[in-house]
Amino acid sequence: MSPAVQSPASYPDVVTHDVPVFFCRFNFPGKLQSPPHKGTLATRGAEPVRVTKVPCALRVIIVPATSVIGLQWGDEAKGKVVDILTENHDVVVRYQGGNNAGHTVKFGGNTYKLSLLPTGMLQSHVQSVIGPGVVINPLALLTELDSLIAGGVDCGDRLMISERAHVICPWHLLEEAAFEKQRGSKAIGTTMRGIGTCYREKAGRFQAIRMGDLVNKDRFANKVREIVPLKQIVLNALNPDGEQLNVGQIIEDYSAAADRLRPMVADTTAWLLNAQETGKRLLFEGAQGSLLDIDHGTFPYVTSSNSSGCGIHSGSGIPERSIGTMIGVAKAYTTRVGGGPFPTELDNDLGEQIRIAGNEFGTVTGRPRRCGWFDAVATRYSARVSGVDSIAVALLDVLSGIGNLQICEAYEIDGKVTRDLPACPDALQIAKPVLREVRGWTEDITDARNFDDLPSNAQQYVKTISKLVERPVALVSVGPDRDQTIITSPLPGS
Ligand code: IMP
Repeated sequence: MSPAVQSPASYPDVVTHDVPVFFCRFNFPGKLQSPPHKGTLATRGAEPVRVTKVPCALRVIIVPATSVIGLQWGDEAKGKVVDILTENHDVVVRYQGGNNAGHTVKFGGNTYKLSLLPTGMLQSHVQSVIGPGVVINPLALLTELDSLIAGGVDCGDRLMISERAHVICPWHLLEEAAFEKQRGSKAIGTTMRGIGTCYREKAGRFQAIRMGDLVNKDRFANKVREIVPLKQIVLNALNPDGEQLNVGQIIEDYSAAADRLRPMVADTTAWLLNAQETGKRLLFEGAQGSLLDIDHGTFPYVTSSNSSGCGIHSGSGIPERSIGTMIGVAKAYTTRVGGGPFPTELDNDLGEQIRIAGNEFGTVTGRPRRCGWFDAVATRYSARVSGVDSIAVALLDVLSGIGNLQICEAYEIDGKVTRDLPACPDALQIAKPVLREVRGWTEDITDARNFDDLPSNAQQYVKTISKLVERPVALVSVGPDRDQTIITSPLPGS
């Protein structure tokens, strides 16, 4: 793909803006095929801008990208929102996490469960990219790819994997299992996929393996021979009766996987930058949720990557300022898997009723999810940290017939009322939710396609969420299928 950056001399009729395009968010009406001509009208935010010819050393025209971020503790139905938006995008990018994620997408009578693969794999016009910030278990990736192919999805050569992404190896899984067991009741409750131990190795640098190493036979074998004896000492200390690592078997299994993956491994950073600069519309697909972010989430009960909007740039190599629209997805209630504080948890029959109605069992591990009222304090925090423009409210239909509903609008911690999410887990643990009651509805809403089709109490519920989270609502999901969706404002890329 030819890069869009040209030398000034080669610019036929240099057209650009009053400020360099990288420093503002422009939305051009229609699809941008080439740099707009002098006199083209664009908008920056709501403000119209006239594209003028100015002398400039370097001009790059980019199409603003879109991102979808979870605003809770994961499982917000991001997969469905990404799938809807994919129609109007050319490239879907996963940039953090690994096969700890689980996305369920339903359409055409089929259910697809994705874990590590970008949701873009389900649409044949889309290129899917796994970026540098992802951790990859090559064996799990191939199993997932094969199951998609067996399910009739034409994967062709539509997947590209960053040579910078890190590889999850067998010792990461064994170490994680030993650590979680040792922590007993204080365990994080991880997905046991070796995610945290792989990211820890990445930060430690010397015992890390990247996809670029995996596809280089000799380099990979040498690394495994060097790392395994050291890892075995640690593993034996943690669990003297534990499994012994088999160097030969690991090299054989991973090299066989590498042979299949080699054609897909590339410099995705350069490819994505070129793609965006040549008019491709990129869609960034977040995994987990903002509250599980390693830096900004409910530490230490978090995942090991930047799962809020903060991770897009570091995990993909694409500048954050080139993202035009960020949509945050939140369920109409709250769920959490694994350990950690959860102020609005309903550890009672009502929680069980929501769990059953929402089929709240993990896509990856099958674990029952903890369920609770919508937490506007935590969601507002996520929306602000991730910088989302609007929210998608998912699984509204699950609340039909529940009775009157509660929304947490503040926390009371040690007698003080706050709308800020505390950094300390002990403070969050003792936070009492200040609840606002909203009247429920009994009607089945799964056939609603316009906001006005919803019962007035359901409309009021969504409006209350929007007000407390301080973001407009772009979309409401009223069922698992693609068409069970109410679009309340034009979607990006359309
Ligand atoms: P890890 O990502 O496997 O290390 O798990 C750390 C925490 O994040 C645990 O509480 C997991 O249950 C949670 N977690 C990881 N991935 C997901 C997800 O996709 N949805 C919901 N929770 C997740």
